[in-house]
Amino acid sequence: MSDKFLLTCDPGMEDIVEMEIREKIRNAKTYRFFNFQGKILVETDRVSDLFNLHSIHHIVKMKKEFYLKEASLDEIRKIIKDVEIEEMESAKSFRVTSQRYGNHTFTSIDMQKVAGEVIQNKYKKEVSLKEFDLNIRFDLIGNFGFIGIQMTKQPMYKRFKKVFHHSAAIKSTLAYGMIRLAEVKENQTFLDPMCGSGTIILEAASLYKDRIKIFASDLFPDIVEKARENARENGLEKFIDFKVADATRLEENFSNIDRIVVNPPYGVKVGKKKDLKAFYWKFLESSNKAMNQEGRMVLITLRADMFRIIVNRSKLFKIVHERVVESGGIFPHIFVMEKL
Ligand SMILES: C[S@@+](CC[C@H](N)C(=O)[O-])C[C@H]1O[C@@H](n2cnc3c(N)ncnc32)[C@H](O)[C@@H]1O
Repeated sequence: MSDKFLLTCDPGMEDIVEMEIREKIRNAKTYRFFNFQGKILVETDRVSDLFNLHSIHHIVKMKKEFYLKEASLDEIRKIIKDVEIEEMESAKSFRVTSQRYGNHTFTSIDMQKVAGEVIQNKYKKEVSLKEFDLNIRFDLIGNFGFIGIQMTKQPMYKRFKKVFHHSAAIKSTLAYGMIRLAEVKENQTFLDPMCGSGTIILEAASLYKDRIKIFASDLFPDIVEKARENARENGLEKFIDFKVADATRLEENFSNIDRIVVNPPYGVKVGKKKDLKAFYWKFLESSNKAMNQEGRMVLITLRADMFRIIVNRSKLFKIVHERVVESGGIFPHIFVMEKL
């Protein structure tokens, strides 16, 4: 029998989640929200397959969906009272986590509190914010509400052990999406020329192993060493060739590269706008030299307007796709480019 699950993902990457589900979970039905990002509903009887997805953050098993008429806390109280959560019988403790989108007269903390009180009165179990057996999710999107059990304790983008974290690292789920947009084919050469802690190449290596040739480089030897340690920690070092290289002079180290997937500095923390412009420009010129004629690059940046102008002026690449994603409260753009 199929159950319904609410999956959370990077806002702007819902199509990637649907694509991955189509490929990996037979007969699963997905539903996207109209005009709302970061969540997808899926119906499937193959629950364990959900845990193999690379594009999602959390899995919530749905208990009840409902539509609020007045959108008041009293109405919420009445609805939650009638929700049967069988899993509560065997749990010692629980917590409620809520997210709220839209205009309401209450906050998500109020929602958590009300739901927590009602569930505690009904099942007589302890509330514990840290050591809980069950994490009950109660979300509202406008007047549309969901109650379910969050099956993932850690977000699934934390799938790699990292001895070194880069403060500007992207989530593994975004790295996965970017790699999918790169349309990697067997035996191709793949490069992240500003690898930082290595999120993109760890993701590529876990997906393709030795079916593609993966290179990773960064300007700083200590960063390259740390990325290598991260790869070693995850048993992926053997699939990645690490190099110290300047991303504005890639042709000195690389040639015939098919795919570049990269998260360059946004210049938020360091550097002036003028320097960043020159840096992006030089990076495009050198990537163009290091890539072969079928070359395709996927790049994420917060400096979308500046980058788009540089690409168009450079006449080295054409933008074949651009999208905005949400990542930790900021809205970078992902550009997919092909060599001209
Ligand atoms: C936004 S971070 C990348 C984070 C990475 N995606 C991760 O998951 O940790 C940008 C990286 O570009 C590197 N970098 C900056 N200038 C560079 C250059 N000229 N050549 C190569 N790498 C450079 C930095 O050292 C930094 O590691």
